[in-house]
Amino acid sequence: MTWSPSNWRSKPAKHIPEDYPDTEALSAVEAQLAGYPPLVFAGEARRLKQRLSEVAAGKAFLLQGGDCAESFKEFHPDAIRDTFRVILQMAVVLTFAAEKPVVKVGRIAGQFAKPRSSPVEMIDGQELPSYRGDIINGMDFNSESRLPDPSRLLQAYAQSASTLNLLRAFSQGGYADLNNVHRWMLGFIERSPQGEKYEALADQISKSLQFMRACGVTAESTPNLQQTEFYTSHEALLLGYEEALTRIDSTTGEWYDTSAHMLWIGHRTRQVDHAHVEFCKGVKNPIGIKCGPGLETDELLRLIDTLNPKDEAGRIVLIARFGSDNVQDGLPDLVRSVNQSGKNVVWSCDPMHGNTLKTNTGFKTRPVDRILSEVRDFIDILSSEGAYPGGVHFEMTGQDVTECIGGAQAISESDLSSRYHTHCDPRLNGEQALELAFLIAEKLQSMTEKSRLEDAQKSIA
Ligand code: TRP
Ligand code: MN
Repeated sequence: MTWSPSNWRSKPAKHIPEDYPDTEALSAVEAQLAGYPPLVFAGEARRLKQRLSEVAAGKAFLLQGGDCAESFKEFHPDAIRDTFRVILQMAVVLTFAAEKPVVKVGRIAGQFAKPRSSPVEMIDGQELPSYRGDIINGMDFNSESRLPDPSRLLQAYAQSASTLNLLRAFSQGGYADLNNVHRWMLGFIERSPQGEKYEALADQISKSLQFMRACGVTAESTPNLQQTEFYTSHEALLLGYEEALTRIDSTTGEWYDTSAHMLWIGHRTRQVDHAHVEFCKGVKNPIGIKCGPGLETDELLRLIDTLNPKDEAGRIVLIARFGSDNVQDGLPDLVRSVNQSGKNVVWSCDPMHGNTLKTNTGFKTRPVDRILSEVRDFIDILSSEGAYPGGVHFEMTGQDVTECIGGAQAISESDLSSRYHTHCDPRLNGEQALELAFLIAEKLQSMTEKSRLEDAQKSIA
């Protein structure tokens, strides 16, 4: 049977709303979207795959992050800029430490649909459908807002298009110039310990750039210094939207989902014979698979085979999200069996989704300590299994929020209420994100030094 973008419709599908009051209106919107321009070009998705194949080979590092859920209400150029600049800061820290290129991928320009643990929400005795992300329904707790509304697909498309447009401008138009390394600092981080650490590193980079300039290496001779590749990604959840943006690439005759460069399959929708895997199977974009507690080794191998039958490098990113308590139990077996199978994958660590808890005051939060501890364990486990810890996947915002507890600022449970803005899960703020980057940088640096030492010993022996 040949694959088509609508084949998923005949499979069981979890977390896709079935309560649209007017399904004809939904089909009409999907048809309208199918006639709109693609958001990304297939050639860009292929280049990302090429970059990820370098990660798979241990020659680059993947940095993937952004909002848990984008929202219509918080759509603002400053928010896009601040997320982008924190990712640039993190990328600089990691590039410097790992001495490897960093592949930058945002959870942005399309991250609107959310799987929910319960289909309904109860507040003060009233039960309503859960909020499922702005592309589906509204967050306000009343029955009208919680009804799925097809026109939201068009608004999500429009917001994604203009977000992507700004990101392209920032990454190509001069904002990402390495000579701006000091200017990416956010005001509220500047006088923090992380800020000072960043300034010190930025000084070293500026100094190196001045030296290189004196040697004749300038942005004019080397455009790479003033531009960066920035890719977009989101969870492939609302398949009607994804199908509408799936197009045949005229240069290769292959299908690409042009809503983003990369897509991932969530922890709750990764059943091999269900709709989400069926859809992702046929598009050529790089595909992430969230791997967490409960995923058996044979199931994972089957997923990889189904999604990447030709074992192409850069196609599959395995995103481990076990939680700091479970990573040591759950991850090693998966890594070992993928290793033994010889399959070509990138291993990345999502230290966010396994570390969510609820405080007594009712806030969903994540302790920064646990986030850092899971990343540390991830790197150690991968290294000791002889595999490469290739990346991280995290939820952050450039805004000065108080959603995750701990970190160098020592945000406490009682601080959470002061700036708690997320539409879904708690995100790292700019300073906590930098702290994460410095931690990974130290780990990667010691790995690099260790392998240098081993190489030196080998050459002596
Ligand atoms: N083009 C290179 C890269 O993306 C160097 C670079 C330019 C860069 N601007 C950057 C690196 C901003 C990190 C952050 O890696
Ligand atoms: Mn989330």
